[in-house]
Amino acid sequence: MKDKIDINRLPKHIAIIMDGNGRWAKTQNQPRIFGHQHGVNAVRESTEACAELGIKFLTLYAFSTENWNRPITEVDALMSLLIETIHQEIPTLNKNKVRLKAIGDLSKLPEGTKKALKEAIALTDQNDRMDLVLALNYSGRWDIAQAAKRVAEDVKKGMLDPEQLDEHKFASYLNTNGIPDPELLIRTSGESRVSNFLLWEIAYAELLFLPVFWPEFNKEHIYEAIINFQNRERRFGKISEQLNS
Ligand code: IPE
Ligand code: IPE
Ligand code: MG
Repeated sequence: MKDKIDINRLPKHIAIIMDGNGRWAKTQNQPRIFGHQHGVNAVRESTEACAELGIKFLTLYAFSTENWNRPITEVDALMSLLIETIHQEIPTLNKNKVRLKAIGDLSKLPEGTKKALKEAIALTDQNDRMDLVLALNYSGRWDIAQAAKRVAEDVKKGMLDPEQLDEHKFASYLNTNGIPDPELLIRTSGESRVSNFLLWEIAYAELLFLPVFWPEFNKEHIYEAIINFQNRERRFGKISEQLNS
């Protein structure tokens, strides 16, 4: 599969909605957290595959603002797993020159999770091969709303003239400022929805919904997704003939 990829036409940014951990666990007659634990392997596989290929940004949807509504035992287990995983992966991130970043309302995360995250971000800050962006307590609407609020504050303070506000300026207030829009969005588990992920940023992303549950996701799936992406015609409103001239 890997050989079929045109490395001159790689997406710069791939975003993934990691879904299906609970359902995969069920197929193994195991509790949902077993699925989350195995999901960590898929995180490792996709990070490695993307870094090796030369993808510059990989964003993973790890916890949505809506996920707080899950049973408290599952939320707690997920937060503990996050701390453990972040700690454990720092050497591998450094070995592969991957810089960790996070988007979302991090202020509302439990102290332990926040601390582990901050530490890992600081310890991987010098890496420049790829940015791995974790979306934590993130939702697209939250980001757009907080950006709008900050725009309003700047206008009120006289620091921003509403006349200057265009798409580009607005995007600079989003949590994803500095990260290019993803060209490819993958969701596993067969669900065909975006569940409040990167709503602004996916305006022109190619969407790919794969039937595989997240814990089964591996490097080959990344290769397959990129090949699928490279076979699409991205027209951006134009007609086909204009693209080839
Ligand atoms: C994705 O798997 C992980 C998170 C949302 C944290 P799920 O936990 O949503 O698994 P399913 O969709 O219930 O199978
Ligand atoms: C989306 O998955 C959120 C993450 C992957 C973190 P969910 O499993 O929470 O999405 P819905 O509820 O099925 O839309
Ligand atoms: Mg799910």
